[in-house]
Amino acid sequence: MPDRLTGLELRSTVSNDGKLTLSLEPVTLDPPGPDEVIVRVEAAPINPSDLGLLLGPADMATLQPGGSADRPTLTAAIPQARMGAMKARLDQPLPVGNEGAGTVVQAGENVAGLLGRKVGMIGGAMYAQYRKIAARDCIPLPEGASAADGASMFVNPLTALAMVETLRMEGHKALVHTAAASNLGQMLNRICIADGVPLVNVVRNDAQAAILREIGARHIVDSSAEDFREKLTDAIAQTGATLVFDAIGGGKLANAILHAMEAAANRSATEYSRYGSSTFKQVYIYGALDLGPTELDRGYGFAWSVSGFLLTPFLMKLGMEGTMRLRARVAAELKTTFASHYTATISLTEALDPAVVAAYAKKATGEKYLIDPSR
Ligand SMILES: NC(=O)c1ccc[n+]([C@@H]2O[C@H](COP(=O)([O-])OP(=O)(O)OC[C@H]3O[C@@H](n4cnc5c(N)ncnc54)[C@H](OP(=O)(O)O)[C@@H]3O)[C@@H](O)[C@H]2O)c1
Repeated sequence: MPDRLTGLELRSTVSNDGKLTLSLEPVTLDPPGPDEVIVRVEAAPINPSDLGLLLGPADMATLQPGGSADRPTLTAAIPQARMGAMKARLDQPLPVGNEGAGTVVQAGENVAGLLGRKVGMIGGAMYAQYRKIAARDCIPLPEGASAADGASMFVNPLTALAMVETLRMEGHKALVHTAAASNLGQMLNRICIADGVPLVNVVRNDAQAAILREIGARHIVDSSAEDFREKLTDAIAQTGATLVFDAIGGGKLANAILHAMEAAANRSATEYSRYGSSTFKQVYIYGALDLGPTELDRGYGFAWSVSGFLLTPFLMKLGMEGTMRLRARVAAELKTTFASHYTATISLTEALDPAVVAAYAKKATGEKYLIDPSR
């Protein structure tokens, strides 16, 4: 019988009195079941979706360190107006970290072949020294790949692939992507270039445009430029894009893209319709980089839809075979199409350091952090 392993796990708690507390809690794991493994976590990215759970709507100006050097805590105030959305998680110390990678240190009898292998994994609670997990939620890393190489092999790669799958399933010719120089956006460019799918990238400054040009992106429009609407309409008319994946969510950008799609459709219209063009335009909001309301003025007829998009329900719709096909592509192209770059690798204790938190909470282009809980 293998030993019961004990390790620290990062927990995020929101209390009824409007306080966020981050802490490191010791957790003892029973040996794995027949189809389970225990992985020593060596790399887990901090993605925007992790930040939502980790920091909630806390006010970053109120971060207060506490605890001891090896078991630090961090607290912050949550403005009263934002507490309504916190009801379902009140007073529960929630584990954090959607995905990660590490070395299998214990394996159940049916999956003994995984012992000692490096694996990428999905399933939450990755900001922990050890993670017990079903073997089916792990992918063995290819020979020579490090835990850092495999840390982000699920969330962003599969979502970028899901966008192109959606395009094919729904019969669109091309797509528009916002916050397009993100880690995910760079992967999407490499997929679209390889697969011959026209992609219109919307960024918000020159530096982001340069990142995308460097990796071969063809259509890049800068939302801060004066001629943004014109350039966007041109790119949409050239590509025939009728599908949008919007990571920003709040504000007027999705609305501007719908207007540009309508204007592009009208460029080739032969007669006027008071109901707008019959070209169907689909926007999927898949992120919340701007937490404000989505502003739609409906000035583009009636052939449009705006809805939410999440990876897990999409994969359930795609089914096991399709999901395995996407996963296999990620594993095969891990160090090329799906490579991620990190600003810094931090320990679990550093993840609770106020200065470090302020840096990774920015979600800035090219500034992704990796936690290595084995440090
Ligand atoms: N729905 C799903 O299932 C799913 C799955 C995976 C990822 N996502 C979403 O995908 C998005 C990208 O993730 P990532 O890990 O690739 O991000 P990332 O590498 O951390 O990059 C974030 C990007 O967003 C930009 N940004 C931040 N706030 C913005 C705002 N208010 N307006 C415009 N741009 C803004 C940043 O640009 P600046 O440097 O200019 O700030 C940066 O380029 C996130 O929104 C994430 O939540 C969703």
